[in-house]
Amino acid sequence: MSPPVKFRIGLCGLGTVGQGVWKHFAAKRAELESRLGVKLEIARVAVRDRRKRRGVNIPADRICGDAIAVATDPNLDIICELIGGTTLARDVTLAALACGKVVVSANKALICAHGAEIFETARRHGGHFLFEASVAGGIPLIKALREGLVANRFPLIYGILNGTCNYILTKMEEQDAPYTAVLGEAKRLGYAEADESLDVQGWDTAHKAAVLTFLAHGTWVKPEQMIVEGIDRITPEDFKNAAALGYGIKLLAVIARDFTTGELSVRVHPTLLPESHVVAKVSGVFNAVSVQGDVAGTTLYIGRGAGQDATASAVISDLVDAVGLLKNDRRAFITARKGSAPARPERACRLAPPEHIRGRYYLRLTVRDEPGVLAQIATAMADQQVSIASVIQRAQEPAGEASLVLTTHQSDERAIRATLARLARLRCLLGKPLLLRIGDFSE
Ligand code: NAP
Ligand code: HSE
Repeated sequence: MSPPVKFRIGLCGLGTVGQGVWKHFAAKRAELESRLGVKLEIARVAVRDRRKRRGVNIPADRICGDAIAVATDPNLDIICELIGGTTLARDVTLAALACGKVVVSANKALICAHGAEIFETARRHGGHFLFEASVAGGIPLIKALREGLVANRFPLIYGILNGTCNYILTKMEEQDAPYTAVLGEAKRLGYAEADESLDVQGWDTAHKAAVLTFLAHGTWVKPEQMIVEGIDRITPEDFKNAAALGYGIKLLAVIARDFTTGELSVRVHPTLLPESHVVAKVSGVFNAVSVQGDVAGTTLYIGRGAGQDATASAVISDLVDAVGLLKNDRRAFITARKGSAPARPERACRLAPPEHIRGRYYLRLTVRDEPGVLAQIATAMADQQVSIASVIQRAQEPAGEASLVLTTHQSDERAIRATLARLARLRCLLGKPLLLRIGDFSE
């Protein structure tokens, strides 16, 4: 009997995720080898700083400082890109794919910026690009969309896609903790991006929404084509106001497609969700994604959305798929179920104009506490046909200022933006208003 084939893996990046992959791969290696009937080895690792102390022990002769050399090493079959960013990570990915290798990536920013080029390079050279860890951490969401739900079209996908933001919002709500202190904790726990503004300003969620949109609708939507708002202006006061109205606050991605008109909208924003809604109860680093399929109905996925272990679990699942691809046929043409081909062919779909994106809104304004102010604001809103549903006014420090919280009836993005522009011209308004959306999701 011939000895089992050996597949060699190159790890580019040994930070939070890379160390998790090393640790769990070492622990599960024998079991994986026996299930796959092959030998596996992480044969080379590339880092920026070879002298840095790590939480894992790696033989010194396997570590180098040249990620491109690892990506193009002819002795390696699979390359894990766990560096992050969109410059070196792109070079590493394209170089490995050009050699016909399988690339496994957790890098949603890279896929969002260069996905089309990456998939085309994989196709051209017979390589494969796998990216389960790029969205929703340890939840096998990419597999669910590509495989389990392959018979479906998706009118609505929404949910929490950023563990850092959900962790911050949860702590702010439960402990009245200040935003900056909680962000520091999320960074220490390894949840946040190297540039944490990507998390808190909504961009990381937008990158993930772009990946899901591509899988669900076969088209690339760039963050600049989406509504993207983050959590960095939310205060403990907003949680109190939301609670008084019966809501919690979550940062959601919403991907909505009208299959009659072909219109698609992709947006990321903090959202008031009824406290009883299952997604509103998902706390800490957990993500929750609701997927409405036209055949299956709604399915809901909840799990850890960030952190070393959850993300390593997703990367290792791709490593196993990579071995399956390599075992079957290195140059096999990928089916829609697996590999690097788009999940669905691009269908005629166009972005919905703002006036077709409808919803209810929460507006918090800081105003001068003087006669006539409420009337001016109500007039500005009425001029744009935005109808007020409720008003809460609280006196606040310093004396002479008040906080006004308004909710609206159904309106749309065009009208609410015009209202904000109009409000900005009022002299009674002190500071920039905070706009939150109210989520009216049935399940
Ligand atoms: P990280 O902790 O910052 O690790 C980045 C790694 O890349 C480090 O080991 C760093 O080396 C290495 N690196 C940077 N520049 C390099 C260079 N020029 N040459 C070689 N190596 C270089 O990042 P991470 O949190 O592990 O995230 C990695 C990727 O996974 C990102 O795309 C991120 O978005 C994604 N992701 C992260 C999570 C999470 O929970 N953290 C979850 C899902 C997806 P040194 O260690 O020597 O500095
Ligand atoms: N920074 C990301 C998050 C990592 O907090 O969700 C997981 O993609």
